[in-house]
Amino acid sequence: MPTITQLRSWQDLTAHAEATRHLHLRDLFAADPTRGERLSAEGAGLYLDYSKNRVTDETLTLLLALARETGVEARRDAMFAGEKINVTEGRAVLHTALRAPAGATVMVDGRDVVPDVHEVLGRMAAFADQVRAGTWLGHTGRPLRNIVNIGIGGSDLGPVMAFEALRHYAQRDLTLRFVSNVDGTDLVEKTRDLDPAETLVIVSSKTFTTQETMANAQSARAWLLAALGDESAVARHFVAVSTNADAVQKFGIDTANMFGFWDWVGGRYSMDSAIGLSLMLAVGPDRFRELLAGFHDMDEHFRTAPLEGNLPVLLGMLGLWYNNFHDAQSHAVLPYDQYLAYFPAYLQQLDMESNGKHVTLDGQTTDYQTGPVIWGQPGTNGQHAFYQLIHQGTKLIPADFIGFCQTLNPLPLGDGAPHHDLLMANVFAQTEALAFGKSLDAVLAEGVPADLAPHRVFDGNRPTNTILADRLTPHTLGALIALYEHKVFVQGAVWNINSFDQWGVELGKVLAGKIVPELHADAEPELQHDSSTNTLIRRYRTRR
Ligand code: F6P
Repeated sequence: MPTITQLRSWQDLTAHAEATRHLHLRDLFAADPTRGERLSAEGAGLYLDYSKNRVTDETLTLLLALARETGVEARRDAMFAGEKINVTEGRAVLHTALRAPAGATVMVDGRDVVPDVHEVLGRMAAFADQVRAGTWLGHTGRPLRNIVNIGIGGSDLGPVMAFEALRHYAQRDLTLRFVSNVDGTDLVEKTRDLDPAETLVIVSSKTFTTQETMANAQSARAWLLAALGDESAVARHFVAVSTNADAVQKFGIDTANMFGFWDWVGGRYSMDSAIGLSLMLAVGPDRFRELLAGFHDMDEHFRTAPLEGNLPVLLGMLGLWYNNFHDAQSHAVLPYDQYLAYFPAYLQQLDMESNGKHVTLDGQTTDYQTGPVIWGQPGTNGQHAFYQLIHQGTKLIPADFIGFCQTLNPLPLGDGAPHHDLLMANVFAQTEALAFGKSLDAVLAEGVPADLAPHRVFDGNRPTNTILADRLTPHTLGALIALYEHKVFVQGAVWNINSFDQWGVELGKVLAGKIVPELHADAEPELQHDSSTNTLIRRYRTRR
């Protein structure tokens, strides 16, 4: 099979990258006073300024030619149509059906799944309304005020990220906790101050077999029963979110208290399924529906907008430009909003578990780079930690800056500028500094001594995207998440990899399963690992 590096558009891009390597953003902006307005796009309430990228009009044309030549549009349409594009697991990829409005039709194996989606949403809403109103009573007759979500990976990162993001809209007399780590510290610290009689535990696991989640769920049950004393308490205090009804039943949770989803929803794409139950409990069914509408608006934008103005396509292809033609190893995501503190961590799973692959759909080893390392944290904190390296280090780090025109927490500052202006001034200042830098001449003109001047020079030409929205609402958050879901899709489609499996997490799971009994066996087990692993296990056994 020919690889994508043999495609005409790929080769054109390789040549074009060489020919334009000397270009500086200073020159590109000087040559076109309208660049800042021209290189922008809008969709689903999000405004994208991509003008501060090392691209010319020709670069963009070539990048979109690559998207077309690799069949991104056909792959996108196949996904929306419910074709089994997750070929290694033989599954459709239909997280977009989770936010399809009632009345839409999405067929999987001859069945319209939209009514199923809305049936579960309706049950979730009825349950959430009862808990929020205090009419769902615990075993001792008290309303449940604490909600503990137990899950890991996609069954944790989405809910915790979205809960933090939408905390402003949350019902404040409910306490939400998210337990994921199998380290007992996580469960102990997150439940230490909770009264079991007022606590609802949501066990969230697509497979209901994940070691960490099952261990935490068992221990949470023991914690609850130690206080409430009676096995029948489980029915009022435990609910499950899963695709595996048998395992839920075996665990002892009544399937009447189970909220289902389907194998065509990948774990890292599941936060808008029943996996979002904890979020719905916090913000209420109406806000949850607004979130789904935001996702859906971005889905429609991705499905219908011409590639030239299509936000996920633009973000995906720009990322690919640095990843494949400028040797960038990583990509930073820098939200300028405290509520989005967990967004980079969420994107790490979304992007790195999806596109951390080195084998194409037809089983060939790629001769090109695939998914980048994703990292970041909220501005302005990052500015006082790692931005130094982005500004003056030796590595090229493309970055997305995310900001909002209106704050949810206005704090006026006497005579000074309001907090939000201080925050947003930093967004605009950082991307300006990264793009344009400060030349040696400018530094010397300020009177800096010649021997210090090189330290004060900023080369600039460091690429950024700026994503601006009016306000962080459930709708905006949905659109933002869908933007990144589809960005990841676009890149995976170009790289011809399967963005929807995760075999790379299996080996460690299997080996851990083997090692667990070796750690607490009474007699010294016959260890058949390498000498390093054997020695570490022996040392642990003697000191545990
Ligand atoms: O890390 C592997 C993984 O399978 C993720 O893809 C998934 O989100 C996570 O484990 C949790 O899986 P589950 O929801 O089945 O417990």
